[in-house]
Amino acid sequence: MNEFIELSRAHTSDASLLSKIRFEAILALAFSAYGKAGAQKWAESASDGRVLKAIENHEVWVATDGEQAIGWIEIHENTVLGLYVDPKAAGSGVGVTLLLRAEDRISSTGYSTVQLDASLNAEEFYVRHGYQLLSERTPDSGLPMEKKLEAASSTVGGVDQGAPLVIG
Ligand SMILES: CC(C)(COP(=O)(O)OP(=O)(O)OC[C@H]1O[C@@H](n2cnc3c(N)ncnc32)[C@H](O)[C@@H]1OP(=O)(O)O)[C@@H](O)C(=O)NCCC(=O)NCCS
Repeated sequence: MNEFIELSRAHTSDASLLSKIRFEAILALAFSAYGKAGAQKWAESASDGRVLKAIENHEVWVATDGEQAIGWIEIHENTVLGLYVDPKAAGSGVGVTLLLRAEDRISSTGYSTVQLDASLNAEEFYVRHGYQLLSERTPDSGLPMEKKLEAASSTVGGVDQGAPLVIG
């Protein structure tokens, strides 16, 4: 993991920069799996305000190199809804640093699993970090994957609770 990566919660003022990172990450890093046209289609599929809504309605964490944003992750309940790394910073531990923060946050709210739909290009990245494929890909969707979180393997009456614990 890269010790120079700093993490913080996103502000609404970050939205346009994070949109740019999303766009560039998909074009550059999903190209190998989807081809130019497919990556372009995915990159352009986001509705106007997609990132702003994520910041307002979900939990979005931003990675910076001390100066500027180089990646971000969006989580809601126990689902990772988006993970994008600036192509210039790819392969330097940004993605895994963000993923571990998401897993910590999900674990700390009482969930025992993390869910996500992986893009084809990212399947191996998630497998390396403990995610398992749940079922085959369906048209227009990603690969449904899940990771069981050891620290949050909450048991009540000896029964594993796959759902969140209600605290307070
Ligand atoms: C997938 C993505 C987030 C990975 O980010 P990253 O910062 O490059 O990944 P890291 O540097 O943290 O990689 C951590 C490890 O995973 C490996 N890895 C990274 N991307 C990988 C990939 N696509 N396939 C296989 N392994 C990968 C790295 O080699 C590294 O291995 P190591 O620990 O043995 O050195 C990034 O490629 C990306 O933004 N892709 C485009 C958007 C996308 O597909 N997002 C996922 C949507 S579900």
